[in-house]
Amino acid sequence: MTKKILILPGDGIGQEVTSSAKEVLDFLIDEYQLNFEITNMDVGGTAYEKFGSPLPDNVLEEAKKSDAILFGAVGGPQWDDLGWDYRPEQALLGLRKELELFANLRPAFLFNELASASPIKNHIIENLDILIVRELTGGVYFGEPRAIVLDDPTPYAFNTMIYNEDEIRRIAKVAFESAQKRNGKLCSVEKANVLEVSKFWRSIVSDMAKDYPDVELTHQLADNTAMQLVLNPNQFDVIVSGNLFGDILSDIAATLTGSIGMLPSASLNSSSRGMYEPCHGSAPDIAGQNIANPIAMIASLAMALRFSLNEIGLADKIDNAIKQFIAQGFRTKDISTTDEYMSTSEVATKIIEIIKNG
Ligand code: IPM
Ligand code: MG
Repeated sequence: MTKKILILPGDGIGQEVTSSAKEVLDFLIDEYQLNFEITNMDVGGTAYEKFGSPLPDNVLEEAKKSDAILFGAVGGPQWDDLGWDYRPEQALLGLRKELELFANLRPAFLFNELASASPIKNHIIENLDILIVRELTGGVYFGEPRAIVLDDPTPYAFNTMIYNEDEIRRIAKVAFESAQKRNGKLCSVEKANVLEVSKFWRSIVSDMAKDYPDVELTHQLADNTAMQLVLNPNQFDVIVSGNLFGDILSDIAATLTGSIGMLPSASLNSSSRGMYEPCHGSAPDIAGQNIANPIAMIASLAMALRFSLNEIGLADKIDNAIKQFIAQGFRTKDISTTDEYMSTSEVATKIIEIIKNG
């Protein structure tokens, strides 16, 4: 059966990094006779300029039919003043919600060779390997009611942080099962000392623990986790959290590795269809210069092969090639400690060469 892959480069360096990932994908399709059909479409500011919407209807339709979506990045200063519905970020939020991509997997791992790029002392982050499981379609990001109320003597604004039991159970299940496949530790993060929604979250996750006797469950308050991630990140294996805290904690975790340009992510729904994107943004300051690091996007392609396209062997090949690429001393500008570095377009060629030499 043909698998459908939709490539959405988006804005800024999204264009360059997705074309690198596509080069690797084209090579795999050719080499291993894969029955994949690839479609390329615009989203974000690029789509707004051409079609007046950051997420045109036909893109959403195509996304719904796809097995995997490779998403580059969206956003740029030229679109900062647009109205809410026209902002490039709406492409991301709209796809997450419409495709019910509730499970966001954000691995943060350190290539020990790159430890010196981290702002944290080497002995603290050595061997870092954390998976953040962030709830992605609920919580305060999408909770209703929400509004900015200006026609009031005291203008005000509000959002609603809400989770129902099913939403908590389905994300916690993903997290428990991820912990089972990793080192058997799960830390659930919220603010149960302040928020009702967090207290409820904690009680549901605690209740589920009895079904996973092989997983050691702990609970932490989000502010403490922010601190613990910096002080002693190796205490964590899998972290599960709601949409807002997960957003914040995953940025901290990514930064620990010193190389946000290396980290992939997956956003999955209950039928294992997914959207795959690098953790970094559109980086307008370096867009078009052929210096962006495409490894996070190429590693996101590996996650797509693993979770949505049933090609685990090929995912392993890409992951191994990235490890070798780093071990052999190849560097892009963001992770280079000298004046020498590879351009964006050279990386895919090298990764393909390493895979070929297997
Ligand atoms: C992320 C980003 C998005 C979010 C923005 C761009 C809407 O920060 O994917 O982490 O807040 O979820
Ligand atoms: Mg974020």
